[in-house]
Amino acid sequence: MSHKGPYNAYVSAVGHYFPDKVIPNSYYESYLDTTDEWIKTRTGISERRFLEPNQPTSFMAIRAAQMVLEKRGISAEELDAIIITTVTPDMFYPATAVIVADAIGAKNAFGFDLSAACSGFIFGLATAIQFVQCGTYKKVLIIGADKMSCLADMSDRNNCVLFGDGAAAFLLEPTEDKTIGIIDQILHVDGSGKDSLYQLGGGSLNPPTHETVDKKMHYIYQEGKTVFKAAVKGMADISAEMMEKHNLKPEDVAYLVPHQANMRIIQATADRMGVGLDKVMININKYGNTTSATIPSCVSEYYYDGKIKKGDNLILTSFGAGYTWGSILLKWAI
Ligand code: COA
Repeated sequence: MSHKGPYNAYVSAVGHYFPDKVIPNSYYESYLDTTDEWIKTRTGISERRFLEPNQPTSFMAIRAAQMVLEKRGISAEELDAIIITTVTPDMFYPATAVIVADAIGAKNAFGFDLSAACSGFIFGLATAIQFVQCGTYKKVLIIGADKMSCLADMSDRNNCVLFGDGAAAFLLEPTEDKTIGIIDQILHVDGSGKDSLYQLGGGSLNPPTHETVDKKMHYIYQEGKTVFKAAVKGMADISAEMMEKHNLKPEDVAYLVPHQANMRIIQATADRMGVGLDKVMININKYGNTTSATIPSCVSEYYYDGKIKKGDNLILTSFGAGYTWGSILLKWAI
């Protein structure tokens, strides 16, 4: 993609929110045939956070949004748009963006939800960029938020240990400096993975009935090994493609920011790019797979830890259900 808009979009503020309740691996040891050792070595996850059952995804999205506004020093009324990427909206409709806009007082914004599973934030960011690059909107908030604890079958050791709850957000603004901000994006969908990772019940194909509940069709179904293999190839290929396209050597990349589904997928991607793990943002150990929140929460945590500096090249890369996959090259501007 080479964009033709008059502006570049840059990330002017970031924020994140994770629930207080920590679920260590030992929790699953207490009732499933699993061990802390298995979970850590096969996934890289030590613990994750869970919302309370009565708290919806918007609870986290609101807090991530408020952190962004506070850090940028602006009021919610200055926002032009709010995009929320999620597979766990509060309700099918209205969009969770509506609930968040109302809660934070974004009276002058429009907004919508976008669904692309674990590539949600990358696809959402790619969408948000367009509004800013063309000059139509000046302050677009993009929030990745998911309450995966409500979709995981807590009796299935293959799945429940992998996921957690979280939210994180970027504020995008325009700049006339074409050398900074979001530089490029590569995005893909193909249906080759549609039978390997899905939630069968609850949509128009299988509206909720007693039977869909009895058959556990409202939970995540995942063929772990199949998805794992596709993710290793997809994430590694697209990250390497982004480097080649921009003639970037490993030393030119400050950070790879990979979707956090499994530490072994992250390692394989870094190996393919030729970068060491010191150049990879990682928080899967603390939070597990939070779907749309993984990438922005890594960036937000590393930024407030003082680990990102102006001019750094970040390569954000995701892979998820569908399959969906994508990569964004971002030159840090704040
Ligand atoms: N504790 C102990 N054993 C477990 C387990 C757990 N929590 N979960 C699965 N196992 C068992 C399986 O039942 C299977 O046993 P079997 O061989 O007797 O049938 C065995 O471990 C599979 O082990 P392994 O071959 O090492 O699995 P793996 O390397 O594929 O790792 C996942 C399993 C789920 C961690 C991995 O496949 C994965 O992360 N997949 C999805 C990644 C992803 O990208 N997801 C979504 C993108 S958003």
